[in-house]
Amino acid sequence: MCTVVGYIGKSLCRSYIFEGLARLEYRGYDSAGFACLEPDSQKLLYTKASGQLSQLVERLEKNPIDGFLGIGHTRWSTHGNFSERNAHPHFDCVKSISVVHNGIIENHDELKKQLIKEGHTFESDTDTEVISHLFESFLAEKKFNYQTVSEIVQMLDGMYACIIMLQKFPDTLVAIRKKSPLCVGVGDGEMFIASDVIAFAGKTDKVFFLPDESFAFVDKHGIKAYSFAGTEIPVKIEKTNVSFDNIDKGGHEHFMLKEIYEQKNAIAKTVASLRSLGAGLWDQLGVTAEQVAHLKEISLLACGTSWHAARIAQFFFESICNIPVSVHLASEFRHQVFFPAKHTLYIFISQSGETADVLEALRLINEHDLLTVALTNVATSTVVREAKGFVQTQAGPEVAVASTKAFSTQLAALYWLAHRIALEKKLIDKAALVQAEEDLLRAAELMEKNLEKYRDVIDTQYAPQYASYDNAMFLGRHISYPLAMESALKIKEVAYVFAVSYPAGELKHGSLALVDTTVPIYVFSHPDPMIYQKIVSNAHEVKARGGHIIAFAYEGQHELCELAETVFVISGAFPPLLGTLATLGVMQYFVYAVAKKRGCPIDKPRNLAKSVTVE
Ligand code: F6R
Repeated sequence: MCTVVGYIGKSLCRSYIFEGLARLEYRGYDSAGFACLEPDSQKLLYTKASGQLSQLVERLEKNPIDGFLGIGHTRWSTHGNFSERNAHPHFDCVKSISVVHNGIIENHDELKKQLIKEGHTFESDTDTEVISHLFESFLAEKKFNYQTVSEIVQMLDGMYACIIMLQKFPDTLVAIRKKSPLCVGVGDGEMFIASDVIAFAGKTDKVFFLPDESFAFVDKHGIKAYSFAGTEIPVKIEKTNVSFDNIDKGGHEHFMLKEIYEQKNAIAKTVASLRSLGAGLWDQLGVTAEQVAHLKEISLLACGTSWHAARIAQFFFESICNIPVSVHLASEFRHQVFFPAKHTLYIFISQSGETADVLEALRLINEHDLLTVALTNVATSTVVREAKGFVQTQAGPEVAVASTKAFSTQLAALYWLAHRIALEKKLIDKAALVQAEEDLLRAAELMEKNLEKYRDVIDTQYAPQYASYDNAMFLGRHISYPLAMESALKIKEVAYVFAVSYPAGELKHGSLALVDTTVPIYVFSHPDPMIYQKIVSNAHEVKARGGHIIAFAYEGQHELCELAETVFVISGAFPPLLGTLATLGVMQYFVYAVAKKRGCPIDKPRNLAKSVTVE
């Protein structure tokens, strides 16, 4: 999604703003912009460019501008196409008020009509521009103070984090937050505002997270914060230990490839960190051991790839903890009827911890004072601050937009947690937990070994062969069905292949009509002999209709292999529930290689963003 960054203080701001934007560019990369107040003339200057941040940097190198306060933005388009015209910052009619914004102003249409009636002229198709014109309209008659800002924010519906810079008030930036994340890094005679602490990590470890529905006047020495109603609120400064290591590709051609290879270590780190929590685990989860022992249900909520992790984890919790599990798409959850349940553990799975739909589902459940736990890769994220407790995966920063190591570490953490809960419920003993940890490490190792086994043949034979197909179908059963869904999502987002996924048994209920010689059919097998046999029958149905089968099978599954045109046999010993993890590396590498052959921008696929902060 969009990133907003702002600076006010003793130094020239451009280098910080660009560093901050670059660190967060994974959030959106359709266009970028920068505005500052020129130190001598105090005039508001700006530059914008369509495309990635590098385009803007190039422009600024030719025509440099800088100042002691400034704002910057990278955009993931919601309203208006991606163009220079729609790039932020946006302005009032005389370009003396500028705004950068992340989120959506839902009533922008109505506000725009009203402002146009008042005589304002709009230059973009964005929802954002109403904010700068609203400031212009109010400040024509009212003072620049908290009462006026309070009136303005109460007119804006939706979710938004924005920073406003006004030419007339060069000592202040205004930061506003409703639902979308926004924080202020407190320095010595300087303030750093950003969508995420990563932007200013290394510059200060003091941070003020704006509470939901609040705004702040930020000058170089201090912050005054108010609720939307206009009541002053305390500025609670927290310490953060977030660091930013300038992450490079480590010799790999793409971040996605590097991250595929980081999975083995990331899983080992995740398991080690969970184990190291010892008796402190339940405290960190915000539950008591007794509550865990009496859990009657687990509810998993997530979006996208994290939802696939939840679908796989359903099988972990049900078979290991012997309790029912419900899995919800967070984006649909709020439209359903919710039945609050006291003995249910609600786990919110989100790599970024900032996904708006996940946060909305969490807020809804939090209204009922239930057991809510965040499972995320980012300890400073909003989901951690709002859930009652949290579990952190140790994937490290994931740069490629398509999730790989964040997903596999989610699986590892959830498998471990299932065993830990089972231990508390006295369903397993300590030795079984230790065994589960060893199994996870072995499956992670096999994930990489199996990838290595097929890497060359994928490069030389399979990727060229399958890159020419624009459509694909992915099939699985039981735990291999969510793996098929994840594979279909990966090939869509990274290789732009139109892919569908089905539980293999559903094929005959309609989708079989799509099978012909032009659609590769990817079949994900299952270690369980009974489920495997059903998958074989489905593969026969495909084969009988001329379908090309690419099978991800396990050792000894000869019948499926014989039906397939291409076979990946996942070898090694692992518990059946960890077959997905052992298969993951080959699948991810295959998708990566197909995308590369198709000439796709692998790390930054079109139209996507890594942190999805709009609903
Ligand atoms: C796909 C991918 C997305 C995310 C989804 C939720 O590779 O990464 O589908 O899984 O946008 O994001 P998080 O996990 O940050 O809540």
